[in-house]
Amino acid sequence: MTPSERAAAIEARLSRMKDLPTLPVIILKVLELMNRSDPSIQDLSNLISADQVLASKIIKVVNSPLYAVRTEIRNLQQAMAYLGFEAVKNLVLTCSLISHFAGKGAAFNMKTFWAHSFGCGIVSKLIAGKLGFESAESLYLAGLVHDLGEVVISTAYTVEFPAILKLLQTDGCSFYTAEEKVLGYTHCDVGGWLAVKWRFPESLTQAIRYHHTPSMAKSAKEVVAVVNLADLFCRLRSLGYEFFEELDVSFPDEPAWQILKASSPAIDSIDLERFTYELDEKMDDVHNLIATMY
Ligand SMILES: [Fe+2]
Ligand SMILES: [Fe+2]
Repeated sequence: MTPSERAAAIEARLSRMKDLPTLPVIILKVLELMNRSDPSIQDLSNLISADQVLASKIIKVVNSPLYAVRTEIRNLQQAMAYLGFEAVKNLVLTCSLISHFAGKGAAFNMKTFWAHSFGCGIVSKLIAGKLGFESAESLYLAGLVHDLGEVVISTAYTVEFPAILKLLQTDGCSFYTAEEKVLGYTHCDVGGWLAVKWRFPESLTQAIRYHHTPSMAKSAKEVVAVVNLADLFCRLRSLGYEFFEELDVSFPDEPAWQILKASSPAIDSIDLERFTYELDEKMDDVHNLIATMY
């Protein structure tokens, strides 16, 4: 399908759908807050305090093995003081997304989905940090939401989704390839459509739409490229979906690597073996967080 045929097919299908996932209001408010020039920790605290379920979830996660606090953290103020603005903000986004979509996607393992998404958030942030991105923290969110289109496909495409799963099992291909074969478009197109509906910032929309084809991004190419590499790292280091996937990757030859190299030549000095080892150490964090959330 051409890009305009894809867009028309998705529009025809999704705009008729009655129960499309909505975004938790708190996420919209946090995104709004991030757009301000100097968001304060007090603004963030006010947002969280208005949602007691979320506040208690955050306190539970802060006291989990993930953060290894020495004395128990009992309230939001202590959690904010201990973690700081960025970490709390990321925790708010993660907790609210995971619990909002918890009951959805019954057709496949949502725990695996969130472990992959959370892992991608962490790895995106790590790569951006290594390349000296000013906004390395904001890359976490791009990684976290990159596959949201998959939630829609697994819940709303009840007739086609079993055929997609079957292809994953028989062909050892990726979701992207299987969706392309069955639907003619993918979770990237569906997620991109949703991101526009949800008025996501442009860089997030680009990351969602082009994380498997980074050379096609219209803007924020570096953000898209980082998420593409993070996705590959996660799928290679047993943080993909639960289906066996044949994946043969040589990072320096990846288009995303070349995109990043143009603006950050430092990428060639990343010791891939060491970086992979670093990532493996983070995997426990990922599983701890997911265990706390479910
Ligand atoms: Fe994807
Ligand atoms: Fe992914």
